[in-house]
Amino acid sequence: MSVKLAEGVYWVGAIDWNLRYCGSYETPLGTTYNAYLIVDEKIVLIDCVKHTHSVEMIERIREIVDPKDIDYLIVNHAEPDHAGNIEDVLKIAPRAEIICSKRAEDSLHGYYKIDRPLKIVKTGDSLNIGKRNLIFVEAQMLHWPDNMMTYLKEDHILFSNDPFGQHIATTERFVDQIGEGIVMDHASRYYAQIVLPYSQLVLKKLEEVKGLNVPIDMICPAHGLIWDKKPERIINAYAKWASGETEKRAVIIFDTMWGSTDKMAREIARGLMDNGVQTTVYPVRFSEWSLMIRDVMLSKILLFGSATLNMTMMPVLRGILEFIKGLRPPGTKIAAAFESYGWGGGAYKNLIQTLKEMKFEVVEPGPRSKWAPQEEQLKECYEFGKQLAQKIK
Ligand code: FEO
Repeated sequence: MSVKLAEGVYWVGAIDWNLRYCGSYETPLGTTYNAYLIVDEKIVLIDCVKHTHSVEMIERIREIVDPKDIDYLIVNHAEPDHAGNIEDVLKIAPRAEIICSKRAEDSLHGYYKIDRPLKIVKTGDSLNIGKRNLIFVEAQMLHWPDNMMTYLKEDHILFSNDPFGQHIATTERFVDQIGEGIVMDHASRYYAQIVLPYSQLVLKKLEEVKGLNVPIDMICPAHGLIWDKKPERIINAYAKWASGETEKRAVIIFDTMWGSTDKMAREIARGLMDNGVQTTVYPVRFSEWSLMIRDVMLSKILLFGSATLNMTMMPVLRGILEFIKGLRPPGTKIAAAFESYGWGGGAYKNLIQTLKEMKFEVVEPGPRSKWAPQEEQLKECYEFGKQLAQKIK
């Protein structure tokens, strides 16, 4: 069923219960592809859905209008989860004029067969659709160069596309129907994985939108639940995450071969927790990347531990460190490493080098244990946790 959001404004998207990865991003709860229909003197479709969900979306549109009557198709972003079924839509909406940003010329033609000219818009351009007006706001790199947002002026609704979304498949459409806590949890994972590298641009965009001096009563993102009440909750959260503000907490991510690094991780965690620092410990091979990355974003202290394998760190740990490096978390972070090894070390050295390349404030020396850690090494781990906790007192 389509869902009415305001007079003449409807959700006509699709629910993907099966999705477990969106690009490189784990999506344990699936997702939704949100498309929106505005019925005024003109009929406007905002965004499409992934090609796998084309029928579901088109059925929802048909509940409200005949698709052949659609006048405008606004493509806020051409990535295939939002424009994947555009060729199906164009077939049944022969007179729909496509509206998009300048950068979407490339991505739309690169992905799809587009059979009509594109109308290019830029920030501040508007479109009268009868009793109401749409205003366009470019949002380059949030999170692709082609992204833009569309604002429905008279209803104070912002169709934000990827920003402000979350990957949650649910029968509910509004944030407070399932609870702010769970939505914010997934919104923070989403931010950490796809928006984090562009945090400076987020801060700039938030200022720009504030400068437009337009009220925003509802934010309709392209994934997940709609912020139909108090949308400032997610706007303020984005401002916090983008500014690199961290909490008094630590995250420990490690990989182990025979359990020694695991024992060390738990002792360091004890030293942190006994000294007032909330700490989460992740065995990297069995943990969700979205959770670990989100905790890296929010934590002041980051610890990485590894057994030595082939004179370097374990490969899965290398993988997540590469990912974190690319995300360039903002703000000042304290980072440290620890290692267990047998015949010869190497993981610690590689970890420290990597953390320095990532411009963290690196605390050395971290604990190293030859063979299984004995009482003395475990005490050293505990003391190291305590030492780090004292740094952020
Ligand atoms: Fe949800 Fe950038 O795609």
